[in-house]
Amino acid sequence: MNETAFGNLIPRPVRAEWLSGVFSLGPDTKISVPAGLDAARESAQYLACVLGALTGLPLPVLEGAAPRPGCIHLTDQGAPEGLGDEGYLLEAAGDRVVIRARQYAGFFYGCQTLRQLLPPRRGPWQLPGVAIEDYPRFAWRGAMLDVARSFFPVPEVKRLIDLLAGYKINRLHLHLSDDQGWRIMINSWPKLALYGGRGAVEGGRSGYYTQAEFKDLAAYARSRAMLLVPEIDLPGHTTAVLASYPELNRDGTAPELYRGMKVGFSTLAAEKEITYRFATDVLGELAQLTPGPYLHVGGDEAHSTTLEEYKLFLGRLHDLVAQTGKTLVGWDEIIQGGLRPGDVVQIWRKEAQPLEAVRQGARVIMSPCHHAYLDMKYAAGTKLGQDWAALIEVADAYAWDPVSVYPGLSEGDVLGVEAALWTETIHSLKAAEYMLFPRILGIAEIGWSPRQGRSWAEYRRRLARHGPRLQAADVHFYRSPQVPWEED
Ligand code: ACM
Repeated sequence: MNETAFGNLIPRPVRAEWLSGVFSLGPDTKISVPAGLDAARESAQYLACVLGALTGLPLPVLEGAAPRPGCIHLTDQGAPEGLGDEGYLLEAAGDRVVIRARQYAGFFYGCQTLRQLLPPRRGPWQLPGVAIEDYPRFAWRGAMLDVARSFFPVPEVKRLIDLLAGYKINRLHLHLSDDQGWRIMINSWPKLALYGGRGAVEGGRSGYYTQAEFKDLAAYARSRAMLLVPEIDLPGHTTAVLASYPELNRDGTAPELYRGMKVGFSTLAAEKEITYRFATDVLGELAQLTPGPYLHVGGDEAHSTTLEEYKLFLGRLHDLVAQTGKTLVGWDEIIQGGLRPGDVVQIWRKEAQPLEAVRQGARVIMSPCHHAYLDMKYAAGTKLGQDWAALIEVADAYAWDPVSVYPGLSEGDVLGVEAALWTETIHSLKAAEYMLFPRILGIAEIGWSPRQGRSWAEYRRRLARHGPRLQAADVHFYRSPQVPWEED
């Protein structure tokens, strides 16, 4: 089991000590939780579902039971404060398994680790003896899906949520609007979805989420310990908006919907008051629909907005977002517009200045385009994807660190990491899976695991063992020649 110190676990836990003996799951195995501990009970039900589907065992959930032989027990007893909301202890020793955590996310992640300790597809269903202590390095471990260039319907997004949550990713950033399309029904501006939703990049899919669907997605994500982070990209990347409402245009004339791949040519009119009515209504409705604390307002590549207009616009946006009670998130160009303390800045350009964001009182999320843009090709021969930022092989997506990738930052400045999947060339779930997997596993590990001791040479051997796991989940992934894949 244990040729590498961390077995096959991704992300690598903080500590793992392998013990003798195994715990065997069988027809009499039960999952038990203390009475009245909702977080444990809900996780136990999730675990029963996942392991039930895998093993065919009944795995009943018992409430109010003490840990006893033959049980997988979830409890908050003995879970130290240092675990935080997402950490857990997992001990599999002889006749029982105990997962200790303080909050839902901790139980959920303990269950994910337990799942990875079992074989991918076939029994015997035995857990190795192990004592694990685990908690994340960064609070923000994200994936962005561009549903604007090409739409992803709800069942596909749910599948991605499930796959990503298995690797302890806890933010799904949905890029809901761009030049090519608008993807969320806004009741006070319905043509955004009804008209703007018809657009897509050439070859891409159109569509939009109803408000009920968006709420359902947010709740689904939550049940997987994940927050949705909705993005409305402003003031550039707005052709779909301008095409839907002529009155938002400087000259009152709506452009055609745009199906190309250029950027930087559209802008809202910072001098028109109706622009701010639009932004107030959209951000207000979106804030209502979103249980998480973040609203992402884009701000990137506004090349048709003067700096003066940009500053004016961003100032107004700050006020609007503050009124919703949410935290403003934006791409790194917002640094030049003037930040407010508490902002979250998503660093993507090689020339970005994260230290300047920190000086202005913001925290940063790291999505350097040359490591974390997973729409970039793996190699020159990759059929899908683009190459303007870099070719990103699996090692390139893994072998970097969020604190040192740009100069001058300290650990506390960095809120976390996020992989981005832009979809100019990615028009199906299969295509999305191929670009995400396996690179996203590396980004997940960068976000979760301690820096100390992390190395590509060791990681690639653990990653190799996820080949059969990804196959078992029917994931269409890239068999990188850099990884000594194991076969099922
Ligand atoms: C971006 O890639 N325009 C954020």
